[in-house]
Amino acid sequence: MSAGGVGDVFSAAHDEFALWSARLWQPLGELLTAVSRPAPGERVLDACCGAGASAIPAARAVGASGVVHAVDLAERLVARGAREAEALGLAQARFETADVLTRDGGPYDVVQSAYGVFFFPDMDEGARTLVGRLRPGGRFAVSTWLADGMARIVPVGRDAALPERPELAGQAGRPNAAERVDTPEKLTAWLSSLGLRDVTVHQVRYVQPLHPDDAWTFYLGAAMRGFVEGLGPEALERVRRRFLDGLREAGIDTLDGSSLIGVGYRDGGR
Ligand SMILES: C[S@@+](CC[C@H](N)C(=O)[O-])C[C@H]1O[C@@H](n2cnc3c(N)ncnc32)[C@H](O)[C@@H]1O
Repeated sequence: MSAGGVGDVFSAAHDEFALWSARLWQPLGELLTAVSRPAPGERVLDACCGAGASAIPAARAVGASGVVHAVDLAERLVARGAREAEALGLAQARFETADVLTRDGGPYDVVQSAYGVFFFPDMDEGARTLVGRLRPGGRFAVSTWLADGMARIVPVGRDAALPERPELAGQAGRPNAAERVDTPEKLTAWLSSLGLRDVTVHQVRYVQPLHPDDAWTFYLGAAMRGFVEGLGPEALERVRRRFLDGLREAGIDTLDGSSLIGVGYRDGGR
């Protein structure tokens, strides 16, 4: 997806995305911050912040003397995050709609990104740009999906949309950036390839029951929405039915958000 495309999809998804905040994005966002460990007074960039799942805990951690720049392309997710930060009195959380790769800023003590880097047009180049926003010795922390979890549901979603969107056929089986960082070994190697030192990767098991109604809101609330954006209500209903049948056939009755959370230090400094 192009930068504009991914931002538009997630912005349109904001209502359904928010239905998953308490059950998925927020708990996992807290864990990213538990690994990146922003300290009082620090400057943090939360890249691809969505509705603030990891930016809000980071803002709590840095306190009033710090700052968190929370940046995402999806305007309506950013607006949700900004509203929540305001309601919580976290003025140090500054939400901004922008392409985090072309926005200047820094240097930061921490740059963190939950489930964002694999959307960059070039994941390596994008991550290097973000690492370049760190001060020497600053931490770069990312969350990615563990293999055989979230990735199992996406082909079912694509197949369900295929009869309405034949052009999706070309995407099946293509190399996918998320697969390059979906094991502890691959994520460790990738973070090291960015020139980071003292890389650590944590594995988190996070599996929850998935009612068919919730499976459909998940479809509409995240990247799979891109498969069906612009379809009319009848076509959408056909995709919904095929998707739920496909999940049953594949034996998928849970949402597996198992994750990897990695952190490394930019060279120099402390
Ligand atoms: C799966 S969502 C995760 C959102 C959030 N980090 C969370 O964990 O709840 C991925 C987000 O990446 C954002 N994104 C992708 N590429 C981006 C870019 N170049 N600049 C800013 N945001 C981007 C999308 O708009 C989307 O909101």
